[in-house]
Amino acid sequence: MEIPIKTICCIGAGYVGGPTMTMMASKCPDLNFNVVDINEERIESWNNKNLSKLPIYEPGLKELIAKTRNKNLFFSTNIKEAIESADIIFISVNTPTKTKGLGAGKSSDLKWVESSAREVAKYSKGYTIVVEKSTLPVRTAEVIENILNSAETNSSRDEISFSVLSNPEFLAEGTAINDLNNPDRVLIGGKNKQAMTALSNIYKAWVPEEKILFTNIWSSELAKLTSNAFLAQRISSINSISAICEVTGADVKEVSRAIGKDSRIGSKFLDSGPGFGGSCFKKDILNLVYLAEYFDLYEVANFWEGVVKINNWHQKRITEIVIKKLFGTISGKKIIILGFAFKANTNDTRESAAIKICKDLIDEGANLVIHDPKVNYKQIEKDLKIKQTSKENDSIETSIKGQIGQWRFSKNLDIFDNAHAILILTEWEEYKYIEWQNVVKKMVKPSWVFDSRSIVNKKEVEKAGLRLWRLGDGSQEKEVSSF
Ligand code: NAD
Ligand code: UGA
Repeated sequence: MEIPIKTICCIGAGYVGGPTMTMMASKCPDLNFNVVDINEERIESWNNKNLSKLPIYEPGLKELIAKTRNKNLFFSTNIKEAIESADIIFISVNTPTKTKGLGAGKSSDLKWVESSAREVAKYSKGYTIVVEKSTLPVRTAEVIENILNSAETNSSRDEISFSVLSNPEFLAEGTAINDLNNPDRVLIGGKNKQAMTALSNIYKAWVPEEKILFTNIWSSELAKLTSNAFLAQRISSINSISAICEVTGADVKEVSRAIGKDSRIGSKFLDSGPGFGGSCFKKDILNLVYLAEYFDLYEVANFWEGVVKINNWHQKRITEIVIKKLFGTISGKKIIILGFAFKANTNDTRESAAIKICKDLIDEGANLVIHDPKVNYKQIEKDLKIKQTSKENDSIETSIKGQIGQWRFSKNLDIFDNAHAILILTEWEEYKYIEWQNVVKKMVKPSWVFDSRSIVNKKEVEKAGLRLWRLGDGSQEKEVSSF
């Protein structure tokens, strides 16, 4: 018998909950979607009439919000009501790495998942399908089931019962709307076939049936961690090769192109950069490492931990190159940082390579001027744990003159006066069109461009008289050591 579905609740209105429910609401106009969060400010932003004030920046999102919000998509802090009325509840809360206690530094902190499950246990009515949307350690469904089952047995309310499913999300930030609209696959793990069918019926509104995969619940949980681990592993692999390119005269872009033509390898996810960031890659690999260690699989744990170690080493390597090229000292030198988000087309800075690199440059005494088209200075202050120097109205020159180890934010690109170097950390489109001829006139000589994303036009930069270091480009080294 088919389970009737009318109302959906999503606990967690973040980078996953917000866009995912918006897409579902746009594809399923006959269903109602209530997205709830404990963060009042976030919910207020989701409800802001001015669509440029949504809490997350994602191309294509505001257009979908305009079509669905307050029609069949509602954002609120009323968690109780949303749970009571729901036939399906998505748990889409944050699952960061634990900072204290057992498993600290590796395993996920499940306190937000647990509190969500307890709220579901407390308020839900009748039969409810509970869906893990967050990325979770393998066998978390068991924890959720335990909490829900104790509510079933202890409750004096009308009969309540639950089915727990795993339905991990594979969207990437910056392309979330397209990823949700055309997913490579939708994964549904569970035991209860009717519940799995009910969930798949929502996706069938726009996802071809052959892309909907059914697995057991543990495979689904593990597949999500594995998918992120494989993707991150490709980036660490190519970044490690970039270092070899630089000392051998090879060019990592050419190497990527050459290996990517092998259909077994494929061309995606082979761009060398400043090291992977984002809230999930590191966290999910560390989760896998923790799982392997828990089962005494130390070789497996070491293998995957290597992916994170290379990433950390690689970020440090970029800072060291900047210092070396600027004659071994950057104390008091003005360095322009282009891009702070962990990738283009998002305002998210979680685990961005820019955080570690900027901190290290500041520690070495550099005065940074940081530009990003979507990240605001308050977020950068939080990430660096250092306030920007001087007052809003002071000019950049006034605020960093005579200073050592400071930073200042700029909303525009009129920032190159007296700079010693420019370091590109995020591949924002607008950085491709900088007029280098004009920029070089303003900078201290020799003037450097460090391009960690390989986005500038090498010929134009060099023709303008700037010195260019491009990540993984060994052809720029004058002397390549012979063996
Ligand atoms: P996020 O921090 O942006 O959002 C999580 C939200 O959950 C926050 O707004 C928080 O206030 C809310 N929350 C926490 N506990 C709550 C509770 N008890 N009741 C109501 N709201 C609560 O996180 P995110 O980036 O959306 O990630 C969520 C999950 O999805 C994580 O497990 C992550 O690994 C996974 N994931 C993230 C992405 C991504 O691109 N960000 C992609 C795929 C999967
Ligand atoms: C990643 C995965 O791609 C998603 O499938 C997954 O759902 C998500 O994590 C998650 O679980 O959170 P996301 O982190 O948003 O998505 O963005 P990616 O495009 O994967 O980029 C991650 C990092 O790798 C960025 O810092 C990016 O600049 C870097 N990257 C990516 C490279 O350095 N080179 C590449 O070729 C690709």
